Amino acid sequence: MTEPLRLLITSVGSLVATNLFEGLDRLGRDRFFVAGTSTVSEAAGNYACDAVVRVPLTLDRANWAQALVQWGEETRPDLWIPTRDDDVSALAHLVADVRLPRRALVGTPAVADLIGDKWLSYRFAVEHGLPVAPSAHAFESALALAEQYGYPMIVKPCRGYGTRGTRLVFDAGQLARVFETGGSWIAQPFLNPAPGWDAELPDPSLGMPLWYSYRDPGQYAVVSVVGPTGQVELIGATLNTMICGRPERSVRAIDPLLAQLGSDYAHALADAGWRGSVNVQCRRLPDGQYVMFELAGRLAGGLCGREALGLAEVWQTLEAWCPGRIPQPEPVPADVGTVAIKESRTVTLSASDIHTFETSGRWHRCC
Ligand SMILES: Nc1ncnc2c1ncn2[C@@H]1O[C@H](COP(=O)(O)OP(=O)(O)O)[C@@H](O)[C@H]1O
Ligand SMILES: [Mg+2]
Repeated sequence: MTEPLRLLITSVGSLVATNLFEGLDRLGRDRFFVAGTSTVSEAAGNYACDAVVRVPLTLDRANWAQALVQWGEETRPDLWIPTRDDDVSALAHLVADVRLPRRALVGTPAVADLIGDKWLSYRFAVEHGLPVAPSAHAFESALALAEQYGYPMIVKPCRGYGTRGTRLVFDAGQLARVFETGGSWIAQPFLNPAPGWDAELPDPSLGMPLWYSYRDPGQYAVVSVVGPTGQVELIGATLNTMICGRPERSVRAIDPLLAQLGSDYAHALADAGWRGSVNVQCRRLPDGQYVMFELAGRLAGGLCGREALGLAEVWQTLEAWCPGRIPQPEPVPADVGTVAIKESRTVTLSASDIHTFETSGRWHRCC
């Protein structure tokens, strides 16, 4: 057996890490040594690693960076993989500041910061002539957009994730109040919702349901990888149904227009200094054109849906960065399912593993 490929994966309790572990299983888990970082003890991802260390919250940048550098020295990864938006930015800054000798799936801090901020992403797209959802960053310009496109508008925190803080606003009063809360918001027209989407809205005259989620079957994601020298490889695209901010159902989206858009974004970002994953989330307009509404500079929650449908996203990403280390997986048979559905599964964790992690801040798999 050849030496395992050594990966340092941040935030292994995240949903993206769960997807990545599934991808590593497909490629043969024993081909990898996974060193994880985590802030929580009861996360299945911790104990899917070969070794995991507790680190400070990413927001505590200086201490997080120190912990990461130390973990990197101990575990000598061939590749560092961030799994959350905050980690992408923090890792890009860390790589730039301390010039980590080993490879990390990030580009320059400036591009990390623009990918992580929806308004800066919009500005980047406009400057590069790339198709993007019309957007506003202040109440007056949001109002002008609403007059042009009508209500509802969708208003999102510029640095949000997982649909947290995102809201539909139905009139100018609501729009004004969102902007008055302070913070950094981006408003966009509500593009191409599913027919009958509003029939599912809760009726506020009947009180507030404890749980409600808008269901969005219209999210296209087109993904690429930018290798360490800036070469771009398109991986492919899916159409996802989003429920509670998660892609719960995916089908392949094979359309040259969408592929072109994904490739154009990846090239523009690579030219600006990005390296690693590029995930372009889009909506399809009634005329068949696509517009980007959000970027991610990392592997994303739709990863397993894409892999289950035959795209080799994990392998292509690893191959771009650590060529020749992992054999190419067999092509997926022609009768592969055409719809990928996420179903939750139950895992048990060992009390003694949790105790070890809690008391020592570390856990290692026994041989
Ligand atoms: N302009 C838009 N038109 C229609 N739906 C949108 C639009 N922007 C976002 N959405 C919906 O809101 C969700 C969250 O928005 P997104 O920009 O992806 O932010 P984040 O993932 O950071 O929370 C998307 O997954 C999509 O379902
Ligand atoms: Mg999103």
